[in-house]
Amino acid sequence: MLYQSSIGATAMAALLSALTVSAIPTPQSSTGPIYPPTELGANFRLVANVTGADLVPSINNYVLTSYQTGGGTAYTILVANTTLTTGRIFYVNGTATEVEYHESNVLSDAGTPPFPAGLAVAADNDADGERYVSLDSGPGQAGILLTQFPDPIHELGGGAGLFYACQNTMPDGEVAIQLESRAPGAFLPKGCVDITLLPQCSEGSGRDAPFGNNVNCYPDVAGIDWTYYSTD
Ligand SMILES: *[C@@H]1O[C@H](CO)[C@@H](O)[C@H](O)[C@H]1NC(C)=O
Ligand SMILES: *[C@@H]1O[C@H](CO)[C@@H](O)[C@H](O)[C@H]1NC(C)=O
Ligand SMILES: *[C@@H]1O[C@H](CO)[C@@H](O)[C@H](O)[C@H]1NC(C)=O
Repeated sequence: MLYQSSIGATAMAALLSALTVSAIPTPQSSTGPIYPPTELGANFRLVANVTGADLVPSINNYVLTSYQTGGGTAYTILVANTTLTTGRIFYVNGTATEVEYHESNVLSDAGTPPFPAGLAVAADNDADGERYVSLDSGPGQAGILLTQFPDPIHELGGGAGLFYACQNTMPDGEVAIQLESRAPGAFLPKGCVDITLLPQCSEGSGRDAPFGNNVNCYPDVAGIDWTYYSTD
């Protein structure tokens, strides 16, 4: 065998014993944290996981979609998951370097033919101290991302730092659960709840995205049992 002829029997024995030793699990790994399993995919929906007090009715597992405000601009809102295709489909756009340095964008394509819109967080607080997350047509904001290895949990990140949801009255008078972002330590406005947004793997959106990236996404966010899995 070619393999045997290129490595001596003693070296082979040493190699095997090294492999055996490294294969013995350390006590730590049997008691260490377990994280929810992910798959790799290019497209995902964003699902709300309420981390503190909830709204009534509950918005846990609500799905992120857009609320058009005219002229290619939109807020982002959370809606109950009523069909298999509820919620916008997103992808992480950028070169490998942009992804590595957290300069990629989170985009979603819509329209006929489809065109991209990107997530962005308003630069300044509005009068109420709230910073809306928008999905206007165009590239959105570099630095809005999905957390990746070595982070054990894959979630929407960037923006002002944290995400939360508020029941707000939209420009047309409709009441919706609006997505907003605030800095860690900043005040959570009354009537709003803290959430994380977790990527659930989805079908594609039909548009060719040459700078789309494969990301870690969860097969079924609503099915994750957080009494079993760790987050840190
Ligand atoms: C999801 O929510 C549950 C329950 O509030 C919480 O225990 C868990 O840490 C959250 N997970 C993430 C990734 O936010
Ligand atoms: C929406 O609900 C369907 C049917 O229960 C489920 O299969 C799907 O995973 C849910 N989608 C999201 C994004 O949570
Ligand atoms: C996607 O990322 C690439 C590489 O940075 C960039 O050239 C392209 O304009 C981006 N696409 C959109 C729709 O922003």
